[in-house]
Amino acid sequence: MTVAIDIGENASPGGGRMLVDLEELLATRLLVQGNSGSGKSHLLRRLLEQSAPWVQQCVIDPEGDFVTLAERYGHVVVEADRSEQDLVRVAARVRQHRVSVVVSLEGLDAEQQMRAAAAFLGGLFDAERDHWYPMLVVVDEAQLFAPMAAGEVSDEARKVSLGAMTNLMCRGRKRGLAGVIATQRLAKLAKNVAAEASNFLMGRTFLDIDMARAADLLGMDRRQAESFRDLQRGHFVALGPALSRRPVPVRIGEVETQARSTSPKLLPMPETPAEDARDLILAPLAPEPARLRAERRPAPPPPPSTNDILAELVRSRPAAAAPPSPEEVALAAEERDAMIDEIVRDLLSDPDAAFRSVAVLYQDLLVRMRIKRVPGDALTLAAFKKRLSVARAGVEAGAIPEDAWARAEAAATDLPEDIQGVYLLLARAAFEGAPCPPDGEIARACGSRSPGRARRLVQYMESRGHVVTRADMRGHRIVALPDLGIETKAGDPAAWEEPQEGGGDLFATG
Ligand SMILES: Nc1ncnc2c1ncn2[C@@H]1O[C@H](COP(=O)(O)OP(=O)(O)OP(=O)(O)O)[C@@H](O)[C@H]1O
Ligand SMILES: [Mg+2]
Repeated sequence: MTVAIDIGENASPGGGRMLVDLEELLATRLLVQGNSGSGKSHLLRRLLEQSAPWVQQCVIDPEGDFVTLAERYGHVVVEADRSEQDLVRVAARVRQHRVSVVVSLEGLDAEQQMRAAAAFLGGLFDAERDHWYPMLVVVDEAQLFAPMAAGEVSDEARKVSLGAMTNLMCRGRKRGLAGVIATQRLAKLAKNVAAEASNFLMGRTFLDIDMARAADLLGMDRRQAESFRDLQRGHFVALGPALSRRPVPVRIGEVETQARSTSPKLLPMPETPAEDARDLILAPLAPEPARLRAERRPAPPPPPSTNDILAELVRSRPAAAAPPSPEEVALAAEERDAMIDEIVRDLLSDPDAAFRSVAVLYQDLLVRMRIKRVPGDALTLAAFKKRLSVARAGVEAGAIPEDAWARAEAAATDLPEDIQGVYLLLARAAFEGAPCPPDGEIARACGSRSPGRARRLVQYMESRGHVVTRADMRGHRIVALPDLGIETKAGDPAAWEEPQEGGGDLFATG
């Protein structure tokens, strides 16, 4: 008997429920595509919730969206903020003990995310043969890990990450791994990775190039694929052996679990209480020899990252070069600060800087610190992120009373570093009695071009009680900051144009 997972409603006339054949899905994999906000993550969550009782799951979660599965469904959250070797070993234990996990990559920069995902996926893939139990491996924002084109991360990171994704999608089946991947932009996802999925759920798609890729994958003609443009949020077109032999419209259901009573051919999940599960896989790792890895990858230890090398260079400069001059020694901490501030401003004056990863900006900073001979140790990455946040919020020095700004900064420290700038941006608008910044500007403050990401960040801050949003009669957004007791004026979330080169620089910090 097969296990059928209910993901929502078949929206064709007289369609009934839309069921996914789980065993078939395990064998034939799934690709979900849709623009930001089309409902991919919701869809994945629905699928995960509904299938949690039947199959072990691993979610590669770039934004920490899925950690909420832990409480209700017993997933163990693995923060990826640990060494690659540890991630490999944790992954091996995950397979051995058949524990569902969410690997949260939140807070890592793009390159670290790629390396961590590659290490974890590699660990799952390299598990001992005895542990090849079936497992859904869900990767949200898959274009981050299997990008079509070289980006700003190092070639090496891209190679390992792409390799792990290719293994998952092309060679994972025999080892029990079933890839379920979601992407905003099909055209940005490596073709060989996309091509290995036989099931598709296509959501709203605006760009012709993505539409064309979708049409090719689904074997539709391009005119038919035009209909993807008009899909509403939460609506997808389903096709594939685990879904439907013909394209059918699907309305994804709520994210609430109902126990399903069909009995599966799949092995029942072990009834490990969540507590034990955590101990089983996250107990301190003894320095056992990395046997599993050694067999497949006798590779030399990874070279130190560029950041490490640059930081090392900055540290060692005074010793290696001429001894510091008396002026250098005399430079007060304040002056050092001012020098660094100036470098950060310089860095951000490039219009594209907003969209460079923190890792790349940091490398640039370290080089510039060397050139300008800024005395003392290299700025740590954490300290740099903090300065970047403040600079990205675009605060005019002196425009806001210092103590008020200090309160805003203190309130922001509860948030992940990359979001602090967004909070400060909102705080600045509120202090200045300005309208709430549009989504485009908010996105820019966290190094993104995606209004969807801006909206999600604001939602996230709201869920954590940092902000409260409401709309006025025109639908314009007002954001209140309860910690500071202030709020912005109403602003149109959609009112944003990319600043032209050289013009109106958001990052000018005076
Ligand atoms: N089927 C649905 N029913 C109800 N709400 C939905 C549905 N699908 C999506 N939503 C809501 O719409 C919003 C956007 O959905 P979601 O986060 O899943 O989009 P996404 O495609 O993953 O976007 P992104 O690519 O930016 O991550 C969320 O608030 C989500 O709760
Ligand atoms: Mg999403």
